Amino acid sequence: MHDPELALATAAAHAAGAVLLRHFEGVFEVETKSSPIDLVTSADRAAEAVVIEALRSVHPDHSFLAEESGLSGHDPKYTVLPGPGELRWVIDPLDGTTNFAHGFPHFCVSIALCDQHGARLGVIHDPIRGETFVAVRGQGARLDRNARPGRALAVSQAGRLQQALIATGFSYQRATTRDDNLAEFCRVVPQVCCVRRAGSAALDLAYVAAGRLDGYWEYHLQPWDVAAGSLLVREAGGQIRRLDGAPWQLGCADVVAAGPTLLPTLLEELRAAKIEAP
Ligand code: IPD
Ligand code: CA
Ligand code: CA
Repeated sequence: MHDPELALATAAAHAAGAVLLRHFEGVFEVETKSSPIDLVTSADRAAEAVVIEALRSVHPDHSFLAEESGLSGHDPKYTVLPGPGELRWVIDPLDGTTNFAHGFPHFCVSIALCDQHGARLGVIHDPIRGETFVAVRGQGARLDRNARPGRALAVSQAGRLQQALIATGFSYQRATTRDDNLAEFCRVVPQVCCVRRAGSAALDLAYVAAGRLDGYWEYHLQPWDVAAGSLLVREAGGQIRRLDGAPWQLGCADVVAAGPTLLPTLLEELRAAKIEAP
């Protein structure tokens, strides 16, 4: 996997990871955004500035869609993907802010470079474990440790829910939306080996790519939560759909990801939960 943009994105993710660790082990400020449970810290903002500066200094012609600063760069249209012939970096500087703000050590930096078709490369860096998950479209996915190239990633081949460790999440809108994920959660829990809600959608997808999780679903995700992770899953042999089974592309807020054998069964249960929900 030789790609100059991958090396650049990885360096930016490592620099942002170092910023996150410094704040995590020191002092940081916490504020609320859309609601009292939607947090942002000084670390989110500092890490985002480091990533954008590193990428923009090399590619002043690219546009940026980043969680804390929104869309910037040459293309002023607020669309998720760039236009034909253009490139856009989609960045979550700190995925797992709620964990971070509570001192719970599970969070990451997520960076994807997208063209009009979706992500062409993705990097998810976990600074606590020194793990960096990388993927390039058409070239597979890999897990690097402490900046050393590591093993190729492959999704799990689990075929039965009973064998499966599944992750999900509950969005910041959960108190005010019909899609609060509770019916789906209650339907899936008794049927699977276990369910995890670890608090970072990007790491959930990276773990599906690595075969550590057999599947994952969630509603109300933003492009920066899933841009890099969705490419990792696909490049590791997994599949991604919407919760109603329709094809998924960047910009769709609901996601189901799993290996090809488990995906149809998981989707069936999630759709049944929706139909039966009061
Ligand atoms: C959140 C995390 C969480 C998911 C939320 C996301 P943030 O991102 O990925 O796991 O359940 O839907 O918004 O706010 O920590 O960047
Ligand atoms: Ca996020
Ligand atoms: Ca974030």
